[in-house]
Amino acid sequence: MKIEGIAVIGGGTMGNGIAHVCAQAGRRVTLVDMNQDLLDRALGTIVKNLDRQVKKEIISPEEKEATVSRISTDTSMEAAAASVQLVVEAVPEEVSMKENVFRALDGAAPEDTILATNTSSISITQIAGFTKRPHKVIGMHFMNPVPVMKLVEVIRGLATDDATTETVMSLSRDLGKTPVEVNDFPGFVSNRVLMPMINEAVFALMEGVAEAEAIDTVMKLGMAHPMGPLALADLIGLDVCLGILEVLHRDLGDDRYRPCPLLRKYVAAGWLGRKSGRGFFGYDG
Ligand code: NAI
Repeated sequence: MKIEGIAVIGGGTMGNGIAHVCAQAGRRVTLVDMNQDLLDRALGTIVKNLDRQVKKEIISPEEKEATVSRISTDTSMEAAAASVQLVVEAVPEEVSMKENVFRALDGAAPEDTILATNTSSISITQIAGFTKRPHKVIGMHFMNPVPVMKLVEVIRGLATDDATTETVMSLSRDLGKTPVEVNDFPGFVSNRVLMPMINEAVFALMEGVAEAEAIDTVMKLGMAHPMGPLALADLIGLDVCLGILEVLHRDLGDDRYRPCPLLRKYVAAGWLGRKSGRGFFGYDG
């Protein structure tokens, strides 16, 4: 199926980036959020990020204008979904929110429209179960920041069919990304491998194996990671990391995924990383 029109639900951190790359690849995009203020803010972020690409000579000023002209906004997800071949959902990571959105989308979108979710930890099979088209529901897990990061983890739910998977793999390539197909298991591949490493780094800190700076330096210089695990946790958000570890622990039923008590303590204190100004490291201003 040719994807010409895309609706992106949620214009936050991930949604505005997804709208940006889809429009840049020539697709007509409708961005949906709860009110016009949020949509204006999302559009402002897209324009700022496009300006940065122009400044770095990644795109021309004309390409920027053409990209912006392909993006429209709507506060009704039903209206936005009615005339597109693909919807990408990027609302907050809560099952009840995903359920409301997918039930509404399933009722409003044409029956062959693909419904994708950018969830980082909720089961694609569970989300597909909220619809009458589970074969057309798929995970399209972009990485943050979306315009920069090359990976799209394409996650097949239990019922996702081959045609849906092939369409989404092919679109991801058109977006300039490298799609990787994985099956629906807790944390998929990305967070299944990343979160235990971050958790272990927090255990090492808690047990006094080394200071935070030292732990990150070992992983950067010794393992050629561009960022240390504790700085990366601060970037992702410690509350987000804790939430994903809880999903891994509960759904895989294995204590090796139990969240480190020090991670819980930081989250309880409101030390959430960069967004709160303090996590394993301090972020003034
Ligand atoms: P965010 O909180 O920045 O943005 C969510 C947006 O959805 C907000 O603008 C909110 O107003 C809007 N929204 C909420 N309910 C809505 C509704 N019913 N209809 C339309 N819009 C609605 O969240 P973020 O970080 O963009 O995360 C979105 C999804 O992407 C989550 O599932 C998250 O797990 C996943 N994700 C996040 C990553 C990250 O680094 N932030 C990385 C990869 C995936």
